[in-house]
Amino acid sequence: MTITPTQRVHDDIELSSESFWAQTARQRDASFATLRRERPVSWQPPAYGSLMPDPDDPGYWAVVAHEDVISVSKAHDVFSSSPELGGVMFENVPAEFLDATQSILAMDEPRHGITRRLAHAAFSPRQIRQIEQQILHQAESIVTTLLEEGPRDFVEQVSMRLPLWTISGMLGVPEEDRQRLVDAVDAMVGYNDPEYIGDRDPFMTLFEGMTTLHDIAQKMIDDRRSRPGGDDLMAALVDAEIEGHRLTDDDLRSYFCLLAIAGNDTTRNTTSHGIKALLDHPEQKKLLIENFDRAIPGAIEEFVRWGTPVMTFRRTAKVDAVVGGVDVNAGDKVVMFYSSANRDESVFRDPWSFDITRNPNPHVGFGGGGVHFCLGNHVARLQMRALFREVLTRVPDLSLGEPEMVTGHFMHAVKRMPCSF
Ligand code: HEM
Repeated sequence: MTITPTQRVHDDIELSSESFWAQTARQRDASFATLRRERPVSWQPPAYGSLMPDPDDPGYWAVVAHEDVISVSKAHDVFSSSPELGGVMFENVPAEFLDATQSILAMDEPRHGITRRLAHAAFSPRQIRQIEQQILHQAESIVTTLLEEGPRDFVEQVSMRLPLWTISGMLGVPEEDRQRLVDAVDAMVGYNDPEYIGDRDPFMTLFEGMTTLHDIAQKMIDDRRSRPGGDDLMAALVDAEIEGHRLTDDDLRSYFCLLAIAGNDTTRNTTSHGIKALLDHPEQKKLLIENFDRAIPGAIEEFVRWGTPVMTFRRTAKVDAVVGGVDVNAGDKVVMFYSSANRDESVFRDPWSFDITRNPNPHVGFGGGGVHFCLGNHVARLQMRALFREVLTRVPDLSLGEPEMVTGHFMHAVKRMPCSF
């Protein structure tokens, strides 16, 4: 007899409520650790959320073990990211919205492969070399400003500035639109947080953010089309052509939104978690300072594992499959918990110890491998190398207060973190 999704019993350990996500990462990991040990694939009630509550939603499979996160990530022919089947967000989000803002992240093959190759124009070795220089200058000037302004909030004064400047610089966003871009991205990422949206409707907040980003992007697209030959990323994307395929205006606007969001909050939060971990573990900070060039690559991987800024992404099974020994039916939602996989004790010895010399460090912070693996991982590493060098050498007596976290199941986000020196 086949058990339908609505007949399945939800697990006793529940990962979907707001109260679960209001806990600290360490408190949440007590539940994940039991599931990793006893039921690495468990059936869960739908995630809390405010965008598209659906009384008929039966729930999802929670995948919490490192090995299973990797196998789901790599099986893109079995597990879909497409908006028609629900896309990649834990919470249900309207398909039109995903189409308009998530570009390649929410696409299946073959469209994903073609668009990703075109979008890759943004990350050619030439582009990366060009932005490396910008990143070095920007990191230096962020720390100069911090020293001039005096310490207040590390997130506002350091963590959030570099990713925003990098993305705006890479894409060639006009100076006068940069603050609008930040405000739109903040509202889109914080749509569940009363501090960002006040008494506005969460869906309207997302929609307004998207309209602002599309408006900024369209002006840039029109400009690059009317003046070919520019050397910023938007010009490269407008000109990109592979085997007769080109990016349409819709593709370009959506990719612009993806980069503005994916390239901002991720590095911002890795920086905040990374600096806090270093200051909480002075012996690790000393190790890094003593031999910065040798130690920083391993330290960056540990910052990403430790912080795991992207905590969840979802897929939907296109066909019947088996994950971690559990039968998953076509149409079932499958949610990968990167934050749990990055604390999997069968892969990481003593996973709650912060160790910048951890080797190997096969974290899944940039995704579990496969076709959607983070396209910006090199840029993120460049940013962190530049910023940590500046902060650690020029503000040696930095100290930090407790971080104030955003409650949510997507970004492991630090809202504020008082600093002094
Ligand atoms: C520490 C910083 C970052 C983290 C932790 C991170 C994490 C991720 C994750 C988890 C994914 C999904 C992988 C999957 O589904 O298998 C992803 C995709 C992506 N990221 Fe990042 N990211 C970071 C920085 C960046 C930056 C700086 C950029 C852009 C400049 C960027 C651009 C992208 C893009 C375009 C994709 C979609 C790739 C695809 O679907 O083919 N990311 N990232």
